Amino acid sequence: MKIFRTIRETTAFSESLRGQGLSIGFVPTMGALHEGHLSLVRRAAAENDAVLVSIFVNPIQFNNPNDLEKYPRDLEKDLELLIPAGCTAVFAPEVSEMYPENEVRKHFDFGALETVMEGAFRPGHFNGVGVVVDKLFNITLPHRAYFGEKDYQQLQIIRMLTRNAHPGLEIVPCDISREDDGLARSSRNERLTPGMRKAAPFIYEMLNKAAGMAKDHTAEEISEEIEQAFANHELLKLEYFSIADGDTLQPVHGPVNVGDRAFIAVFAGDVRLIDNIQLR
Ligand code: PAF
Repeated sequence: MKIFRTIRETTAFSESLRGQGLSIGFVPTMGALHEGHLSLVRRAAAENDAVLVSIFVNPIQFNNPNDLEKYPRDLEKDLELLIPAGCTAVFAPEVSEMYPENEVRKHFDFGALETVMEGAFRPGHFNGVGVVVDKLFNITLPHRAYFGEKDYQQLQIIRMLTRNAHPGLEIVPCDISREDDGLARSSRNERLTPGMRKAAPFIYEMLNKAAGMAKDHTAEEISEEIEQAFANHELLKLEYFSIADGDTLQPVHGPVNVGDRAFIAVFAGDVRLIDNIQLR
């Protein structure tokens, strides 16, 4: 497995793969890799001739400096995990390589997709994601890029970015990877205290409850039930629960339709967890 630190050598490698007629699958990550990431890498390896993985904790997508500082980082361990998963090359740049001083940075407008949920609670987050993913696509020149559905709003934003700026690139959505008790896998789970880790599967339990109600309850009735359940919970603090259209991400009112999803963000102590589920 090759390890690149610079844009120049990564792009040269991708160009040489393309020159040989080989397909490139790309998995962008912020490191602290877990089974969820590795399942994306394995899928990319099964569907492409070569797999590139980026490991870069992107400072401009963190609206909370504490979250950026505490984000887990362990490059050596990540590299060890990537070899058996079928990764061909890793791009692990320094911040100065991705964001040189005096660079004129692009700005993205994702319209209504970014004004709700994560976009509303994390100002600037999706522009930061758009900037880095656009750069990473230009650097790694993939044929397919793999994204987990846990960050479903991010997936929709990246689909829009790709339609506008990277036509021809296929975005491959991948099912949410879960622990045995249902908790969605996330690098942030590492930071949960034992008590919070024990409590956290309640989030998926509530999403399942919402899915169970969807056929014969309105979005408002379901939201009230879930909000009440969190109001009674001793440890977990609900930031938002939203039922929204799976394409436009706009809130649903009244009956829940096929394709609608429930989205949730919860604080387990100072760790913020998100999850979602298709309701019907
Ligand atoms: O989902 C993530 O890990 C990040 O948002 C991404 C796509 C790697 C961009 O920094």
